[in-house]
Amino acid sequence: MTALTDTPTWQTLASLAEDVKQQHMRDWFASDTSRASKYQQTACGIELDFSKNLITDDVLKALFALADESQVSQKRDAMFKGDIINHTEKRAVLHTALRNFSGEPVYVDGQDVMPEVLACQDKIKNFVASIHSGERKGYTGKALKQIVSIGIGGSFLGPKIMSEALKPYWFDGVKVHFVANVDGCHIQDVLASLDHEETLVVMSSKSFTTQETLQNTLTAKDWFLNAGGTQQDIAKHFIAVSSNIKAATDFGMAEDNIFPMWDWVGGRYSLWSAIGLPIALTLGYDNYRQLLEGAFEMDEHFKTAPAEQNLPMLTALLGVWYINFFGAQSHVLLPYYHYLRGFPAYVQQLDMESNGKNISGDTAAVDYATGPIIWGSEGTNGQHSFHQLIHQGTLLIPADFMLPLNVPKQDNTHHAMLASNCFGQTQALMQGKTFDECYADLEGKGLDEAEQVKLATHKTMPGNKPSNTLLFEQMDPKTLGSLVAMYEHKVFVQGAIWGVNSFDQWGVELGKELGNQVLDKIVNTDAALSFDSSTNALIARFRQANS
Ligand code: F6P
Repeated sequence: MTALTDTPTWQTLASLAEDVKQQHMRDWFASDTSRASKYQQTACGIELDFSKNLITDDVLKALFALADESQVSQKRDAMFKGDIINHTEKRAVLHTALRNFSGEPVYVDGQDVMPEVLACQDKIKNFVASIHSGERKGYTGKALKQIVSIGIGGSFLGPKIMSEALKPYWFDGVKVHFVANVDGCHIQDVLASLDHEETLVVMSSKSFTTQETLQNTLTAKDWFLNAGGTQQDIAKHFIAVSSNIKAATDFGMAEDNIFPMWDWVGGRYSLWSAIGLPIALTLGYDNYRQLLEGAFEMDEHFKTAPAEQNLPMLTALLGVWYINFFGAQSHVLLPYYHYLRGFPAYVQQLDMESNGKNISGDTAAVDYATGPIIWGSEGTNGQHSFHQLIHQGTLLIPADFMLPLNVPKQDNTHHAMLASNCFGQTQALMQGKTFDECYADLEGKGLDEAEQVKLATHKTMPGNKPSNTLLFEQMDPKTLGSLVAMYEHKVFVQGAIWGVNSFDQWGVELGKELGNQVLDKIVNTDAALSFDSSTNALIARFRQANS
């Protein structure tokens, strides 16, 4: 098969990129008053304005051809029907089955998995009801009002960030605390504020082998026992979510307290499984169900909408355009909504752990860029921090701006200011400010010619910086589910074009392995050091500081 970069379509795109680089978006907007309406699509409550991008009809046409030639639709269909597309781990990729409300079966190894998926959803629903009603109590008869959710990566980011994003929908009477890092400060701070008699610990680990999660859970267990609980009381206060039932029961979790998950759900795609239990505890099961239904609606959209109306396809292809033809190495997410402040971190794992790869197919080293650096933070804060670089730096950093049009009851002045900043930023990035405009602004300011030229030069804003703007009526559970699924499928489309396996994560194994070897040398202070001189010196220094 011709390498991706040798195809005629790739060459066409490279040529179009050179043409586009000679043009400016402000001229396109000036000459075509319908540009905004032409490059706007709405689906699943998400209104995407992609007009402030470095695109023309010809560019889009070539990008759609690239998707066709990369067989994106065929690969998409293979994913949904449970083909073994995670080919290095020989697994299906079926996080979509977890929110499959079509009534249709989904087969893994010839068996319909939907019965067990639905059974687990019932288990979650009943459990949440028993906690919220106070029916399920601690060993001294107290209601379990404090939940400590322990997990890391996909077993932490989804639960925490989706709960945070939906604060207006929180169930009153239960508080969920999230712990991830093995740094003892975190778990200690959380436990110090709690009464063990009214605390439930939810330990989430798909593998049940993650060092941080195991250690934090052991610390929570010690805390519980030292506070007066006994081994017999553990079952009332500790539950687990895992695909490794044996390891969980060996750890001491009561079998009935284990919520199952499956190896065909990747960690960064698992919030739709029982990993989402803390979300359901935070929001109530009905709101959690809305989250899943929003994702299901986006699945249907992704499967059926033509490319030019398909939000995951459009956002994915725009990313490929900048990454592979403009040298963009990062993509910034700017949620103009305080409760979505964690969303960039969520997409960071989703995207970077999926497409941060350098092998396509079975063994071919890629000769093109793949996954970008995903970063960002809430607007308007970034405007007072890193927006300078996005406006006037030397790097091209495509941006996704997000704004709910309606927000939970608050002073409308605040929301109007938030929206005006969001829109003003996308406008400034697009149109910039020319030297002549800056020079004219400095007339009559008492500057001599040289000073006026100098200052105007430094104040010139190049513009032509691409951005998407995503608007939502409000950030409710269903819209959030659709938004997350849109980014999941964006990542899928890009991985399909680049030919990488978006569903394994071999790159994280070596660090864990070496970390365990270093731990052994730190714990056994007399053990001879046999690593490189830097690592040996670092260990020796740590030993000295902690002797
Ligand atoms: O970072 C590696 C990783 O396996 C992620 O993919 C995963 O979300 C995280 O660690 C936690 O894994 P587990 O849920 O198995 O504890």
